[in-house]
Amino acid sequence: MIVTLDGPAGAGKSTTARALAARLGWCYLDTGAMYRTVALVALEHGLPLDDGPRLAALVESLVIRFCQGRVFVGDRDVSDAIRTEEVTQATRPVADAPAVREAMKHLQRRLAEGLDLVTEGRDQGSEVFPAAELKVFLTASPEERARRRHREELARGSTGSLDAVLAAQARRDEGDRNRPVGAMRPAFDAVVFETDGLAPDEVLARLVELVDARRPREARP
Ligand code: DC
Repeated sequence: MIVTLDGPAGAGKSTTARALAARLGWCYLDTGAMYRTVALVALEHGLPLDDGPRLAALVESLVIRFCQGRVFVGDRDVSDAIRTEEVTQATRPVADAPAVREAMKHLQRRLAEGLDLVTEGRDQGSEVFPAAELKVFLTASPEERARRRHREELARGSTGSLDAVLAAQARRDEGDRNRPVGAMRPAFDAVVFETDGLAPDEVLARLVELVDARRPREARP
């Protein structure tokens, strides 16, 4: 069974998807990490970030693996390297390139073969797994998402303002919604779940209920 979890940055997707996969004992696919990994390797090899076909060839040549919550290219753990601001910036043109998205779609489908999987991103329900048994679009108001991110950034020692976080988030949302291929949107049959005011445990409990309602009776705990 496949569960897709899409939505904007800051909606709590990663935490929720990880926790849901752990609760169900299923695999977890972080597709944002996959785009980030391609951007990291492209930067390291000096590939132009606007050369879609070369970047798509790179996607096909990389062996990206997830293991115990870490991301690997071949045997190299890139979990921290893909989270730098430089890589975050470089990921945008990489994720916008139609050829890269096409190659990613095939790779993500291959990785999912035969698995029970929670997959997280922007286009998992709408483009990559249109036949997924459960599609969730997780969101929260821009203010709530910015407050969460601002709290995380303060905890990491940043001194930026909430307004600056809100403005950067609006720019990212705009880019995610308006890319010509693979734009962020709920699949037509997605459950749109607004998480304002809910604790992570409450979000998880609701998702487990949704999954159980779609599972064959004999597969339920
Ligand atoms: O979720 P994230 O911040 O790790 O995503 C990194 C970038 O990849 C972000 O620019 C959105 C993009 N992305 C995408 O275009 N499609 C996905 N399925 C997942 C992420």
